[in-house]
Amino acid sequence: MENQTIISEFILLGFHTELQIQFLIFVVFFITYMLTVLENLIIISVVKGSRSLHKPMYFFLGNLSILEIWYVSVTLPKFLVDIWTQNKIISFHNCMTQLYFFISLMCTECVLLAVMAYDRYVAICNPLCYPIIMTDRLCFLLGVLPWLSGFSISFIKIIFISRLSFCSPGIINHFFCDISPVLNISCTDMSIAEFVDFILALVILLIPLSVTILSYIFIIASIFRIPTTQGKKKAFSTCSSHLIVVSVFYGSLVFVYALPKKEALREADKIFSVIYTVLTPLINPLIYSLRNKEVKEALRRGIIKAIYK
Ligand SMILES: *[C@@H]1O[C@H](CO)[C@@H](O)[C@H](O)[C@H]1NC(C)=O
Repeated sequence: MENQTIISEFILLGFHTELQIQFLIFVVFFITYMLTVLENLIIISVVKGSRSLHKPMYFFLGNLSILEIWYVSVTLPKFLVDIWTQNKIISFHNCMTQLYFFISLMCTECVLLAVMAYDRYVAICNPLCYPIIMTDRLCFLLGVLPWLSGFSISFIKIIFISRLSFCSPGIINHFFCDISPVLNISCTDMSIAEFVDFILALVILLIPLSVTILSYIFIIASIFRIPTTQGKKKAFSTCSSHLIVVSVFYGSLVFVYALPKKEALREADKIFSVIYTVLTPLINPLIYSLRNKEVKEALRRGIIKAIYK
């Protein structure tokens, strides 16, 4: 540990495979990126553009789409350029900036998914009280809370992480600057940073996760009380698709951040992080927004209006 020089640049290994496979990865990630940005832009303009969607649930969906666009833009463009130019170097500042925005947006997403689950819980379990509970003010607060908590928790984390020193060779075995690959290559004692990271991860993961799980338990319980099979089926199909995306997102986060690591699992980490960096932003808008009847209807009206204008 002693004789190492402090460095100001890192090497991001990415996926170290043959050139053909790198090219394939490039094409797949490029298409995924374009699709993600496109579908989320469509959702934002539909939510903003139609009067019928000016309701809390759709504000949250609009926020989710803004979040997803930003989220994929923090990691993917840089990664694509890196593959294209075969450049593996990232400066310390760029790495910390990427890490900061990545953690912020990931935490924001955790809280936003919980807010959306809570909103559905109130709407489904207390439909008569919904307008009284979900006032404009509460809706605004719930819309701001994810961003505020995400960006401030990430700020604390990044202060601790950026004060560590990193020694040569500074090779990060990942395709972007994520927390554990960066913490892994620090050469100072990082027990405090790791401890802070762990506590904050508990707060920002466990609280939203419990709110989400509780909300869905109540929702499912009330679905069973719906008298008609038709209504039961419909409510259950919406609810189960939400549950699937939420559990895949949290599941991959827990796998990568919470489980103790063996060297052999590091490669698996890379694959799993593709789930929450690339797949979730692509799938979420499809499941949450584009399957929604009112959104589909508004989209159809929007297209017709655009054609006949
Ligand atoms: C995001 O949420 C805020 C507060 O609820 C809302 O005012 C805003 O319109 C939302 N953004 C979009 C694009 O829906």
